[in-house]
Parts: sequence; C-alpha cells; structure tokens
Amino acid sequence: LPELPELATTDAGGVRVAALTAAASGPGLAYNGTSPGPLLRLREGDRVRVDFTNATGAPSSLHLHGLPLTPDVDRPLEHVMPGGSSSQEFTVTPGCAGTYWYHPHAHGDVERQLLAGLAGPIVVAGPADEEPGLREADDRLLMFTRPGRDLLVNGVSRPGATVRGGLVRLRLLNATAGDHLLLGCVRRDRSRPPLHLVATDAGPVGRPREIPEVLLAPGERAEVLVETTAAGPLGLVRLPYSVHGPDGEAGAEETVLVLDVPEDFAAVPLPAGAGPVEEPDPADAVRTRRVVFGAADGAFTIDGRVFDMDRVDARADLDTLEIWEIANDHAADHPFHLHSYPVQVLDRDGVPEPFRAWRDTVNVPAGSTVRLLVPFRHGGGRTVYHCHILNHEDLGMMGVLEVA
Ligand code: C2O
Ligand code: CU
Ligand code: CU
Repeated sequence: LPELPELATTDAGGVRVAALTAAASGPGLAYNGTSPGPLLRLREGDRVRVDFTNATGAPSSLHLHGLPLTPDVDRPLEHVMPGGSSSQEFTVTPGCAGTYWYHPHAHGDVERQLLAGLAGPIVVAGPADEEPGLREADDRLLMFTRPGRDLLVNGVSRPGATVRGGLVRLRLLNATAGDHLLLGCVRRDRSRPPLHLVATDAGPVGRPREIPEVLLAPGERAEVLVETTAAGPLGLVRLPYSVHGPDGEAGAEETVLVLDVPEDFAAVPLPAGAGPVEEPDPADAVRTRRVVFGAADGAFTIDGRVFDMDRVDARADLDTLEIWEIANDHAADHPFHLHSYPVQVLDRDGVPEPFRAWRDTVNVPAGSTVRLLVPFRHGGGRTVYHCHILNHEDLGMMGVLEVA
C-alpha cells in the first residue's frame, strides 16, 4: 500500500501556504506531478492558504471538497483559465478533524479531469485524534480511484500492507467519478469482523458506532476502526451493491486490499469517543425545501431543470436552519452534495437516522427520499449543490444556492 507523498507547506507570517499545480503528466493530468495528488495535512485552527496554478491547457479549478469554507473562499462557480491561478485562504474550523479531498470543479469537464488524474486527499488533525485508542491505532489513508477498469487504492490495484495490529483506523475516501463502494472486512475463515465508525464526511461521530459494512457514495468518506483478532491476512472487500434498487445488478465481491496482521500484535481498546455530536433541533427549521433528482432522455435534472450558473435555484437566510427533503424520482442512486454547509441526515424514507453525524455527501437511493438538516451558519454568497456522480454533474445535475 503506497503512502501518498505529503505536500510541503511554507510559513508566511503565521499562514501555512500550500501550492498545487495541475499540469499534464504522461498521458494524463496530475497535481504537482503525482496522481493521486499529494496529501495535504492540516490541523484544526490552522490559518492556511492554498495556491492553485492551472497549467492543464483547459479551464480548471481547485475545490477543497468538504472543508467548511465560506462560499466566497470556495467559489465553485469560478473557473481558472489556462495559465491562470487562484488562492483560497481560510482558518480550519475547530471540530472538523477528518478526511477530505480536492479535485477540479470546472463545470462540464470535471469527470474527464478527475479520470485523467486530478484528485488528492486532505487530512485534518484535531484533538479527537489524541483520544486513547485512536492515538494507538495504525492510521491508514485509503484513497479509491478508478481511472480505468480496476479500482485502485492509493493508485495501486489490490495492494497489500503489513499493519501493526490491535486497532487499524481506515480512512476511506471514495474519489471515483461515479462508483458506489460497499466496503467490509473479511477474515481468513470468511467471518466478517464489525467496523466501528468513528468519523463521517465532516467530522467525528462521537462514540464509535458498530456497523457491519459501510456504503460510500462517490465523493463520500468514512473512518472506521477494525479490531484485529488473529494474526494473518485480513481482507478489505468491495461487497455486491446495486445502484438500481434491490433487484438491480449488484456485481461480484472483490478484494480491494489485504492487510497482514503480525503474530505479536497487542490488543488496543476501542476509544470511548470524542463527545456527543451537536444535534440541531428540527423544530427550529424555518422551512422545508424539496429538491427532486430526476433523469430522462439522457438529461440529469434537479427539479426538472439542468444547471444554469446564472440562475439562483434556492435562496436561504444566513443564520437559519432548514430541512431539505431530497427526493430521488429516478431508478438509480444519486449522491447529494452541498458545498460550504455540512448537513445531518434526519431520516431516510421516514426511518429516523440512528445517530446524528455531519456530512457533505449523502447517497439518495433509487426511488427514496432523504431528509437533511441544513444550518446556514457562516459566510453567505453563491454556492452549489449537485449529484456527485461527476458525469451527472457535468450534464447539469447541479443547482445554485444563494445564502444571504
Ligand atoms: Cu466534490 Cu462540488 O464537489
Ligand atoms: Cu464539494
Ligand atoms: Cu446522479
């Protein structure tokens, strides 16, 4: 399992400066010459500036997916022309420790640029990492991409890794253009150890939640702990999952990574958890907004329309809480993604979510309705929400949100 190179930063009067250049690299594209791009390591509270230079020859941009940046910093509607550059300066929000990523956001060309090699990981460290259990866990970042036929982990097909054993923390990042990944672990005897979810997209989940497997929609991340119970191989497998409902084609189980646990590992207790996740009260919502995903005749729509960057599709008031009801009228899953404002799932088809967690990408299964709590806490300005299957986004499954 290759470790991705870390992006060096420089200090400019208390601001950590990171520079990423997108350019041709071999037959594809790369950030700073490597694909996946270098790992940007940040810490809660850091003052950071990320400078981007576009040497790709086509309009591009750099989007820091999931970091709770205000719309005026994120600027998803702006493209950087060939030879041009842009900067984003911000303070890393306290409490957002977790796994994020960066990728281009030039509407109409996002999928092509991602598949050509433009995507890289971001890890934000924070006090939650210092908890007993998490601190001792063997921390592994697994960035999934699929530039061709094979699913790659950190750029390699079906890698292996010798872990310390005890507790392994897997930071799972679905950076594919459009593959849903249902992931689980399998022991040599085919038994399936549980996963302990410690973080979703936008931060820690409080106490670890035991889950049998984890579904990651395109763009989504999750951090899970796996307890090793015996020496020897422990497989991470992609399990069958159909994006066309339970009767659809689910694919075959496939091993994506093999962890090797040494003989002499020491058990590590599970962490107690970083404290409860804040739970906004749905009774405080000022409105319920319905957003409908649809597809017909090769067009992918939101509320029956395709994206128009000059049209505002939703207006919200700063410092209010809303409920967004995302209905998927189509016979295929579509992952909803909102920039700048982390959300919490309230219920799925009327079934209350077992626990609250902050997210920025939420799968909406074929024919389902998912209700989200959306607090508009910072910034203001224009941003976007869209399906994170990049081909759908490029074809117009995106809307403009104005917060003022
Ligand atoms: Cu990961 Cu609007 O994008
Ligand atoms: Cu995003
Ligand atoms: Cu979609």
